[in-house]
Amino acid sequence: MKKLILGIETSCDETALALVEGSGDLKKPTFKIKAALVNSQIAIHQPFGGVVPNLAKREHLKNLPILFSQIDPKGTLLKKVDAVAVTVGPGLEPALWTGIEFAKALAKSTKKPLVGTNHLEGHLYSFILDWQKKRLKPGTIFPAIALIVSGGHTILLKMESLYKWKRLGETRDDAVGEAFDKVARLLDFPYPGGPEIEKLSLEGNDLAFDFPQPMKYDKNYDFSYSGLKTSVLYFMRDNPASNKADVAASFQKAATDVLVHKAQRALKEFKGKSIILCGGVAANKSLRKKLQKLSKETGTRFFVPEFKHNTDNAVMIAVAGYMNILRKKKYPIRANGNMGI
Ligand code: KG4
Ligand code: ZN
Repeated sequence: MKKLILGIETSCDETALALVEGSGDLKKPTFKIKAALVNSQIAIHQPFGGVVPNLAKREHLKNLPILFSQIDPKGTLLKKVDAVAVTVGPGLEPALWTGIEFAKALAKSTKKPLVGTNHLEGHLYSFILDWQKKRLKPGTIFPAIALIVSGGHTILLKMESLYKWKRLGETRDDAVGEAFDKVARLLDFPYPGGPEIEKLSLEGNDLAFDFPQPMKYDKNYDFSYSGLKTSVLYFMRDNPASNKADVAASFQKAATDVLVHKAQRALKEFKGKSIILCGGVAANKSLRKKLQKLSKETGTRFFVPEFKHNTDNAVMIAVAGYMNILRKKKYPIRANGNMGI
């Protein structure tokens, strides 16, 4: 099978469109990115310290037709599109609806099938883009231990195949990306905080302060980040003159060590053959390095999408759309803010 998919993503503060050709079956799908555009609203939400749903909606409404007019300037690809894939959840519902309505109208006018996709599956499946570069057989990958780490989620999965997985654990409160964002704010850095903390950490000593790593030694695969954020808050209140770079580096160490620790335990328990890292926080080089090291030490493979496919994008939505066609998976075409995986 070969299909050209138009992916549409509007779940949070990125409006994104992509044209991706998927081919192959559920054992070994491959993807060719024909065009990809992302319009980030970061500058618009920055003064508010986070994403404002109705502002996001307004921007998506404005940006969708603009991106659509730019995605295929010669007009040759859009004619060949086989299906339109759109994120139906999880995310901000007013934002999700803008993409869904746009996709619905497009599918109707072009008489193409509309495929609802799960944003989290988009993040997860983006590892295939790294896998296909390495030319490895499926037998050398599964079972895999996957970490989906973003601004809204912190999930650990055991994957048996590209369509069968089990959720081992998740955060009980804040997501890890949310903790990065909140700590950055405490240190007077703008939203989104992840890249700021990462940059600042490069100049700091990650052993300067011993921040807690909640649930690290609990015999489950869940996470908790609100306690870590609160201890940084109290620490800054009590030690306002402390070196911010040291605080950032020590926080980053605590936030990432616990992820690596639990991934390592899952790898051992389930005899994982590979580690998959995806979602916005996967852009963090320190986390990537630690997991890379773990994979070397354990003789397992490590997959992580390239930077532009870690944070929200529509390539991953087109990829997930193609996978849904292969899996015969049909999500209802309506916004579902709390959709799980
Ligand atoms: O996947 P994503 O773009 O959106 C959601 O689905 O949430 O993830 C955004 C999150 C934000 O919390 C952002 O601070 C975090 O990913 N992030 C990072 C880095 N780049 C983005 N966190 C740590 N280090 C980074 N370099
Ligand atoms: Zn995301």
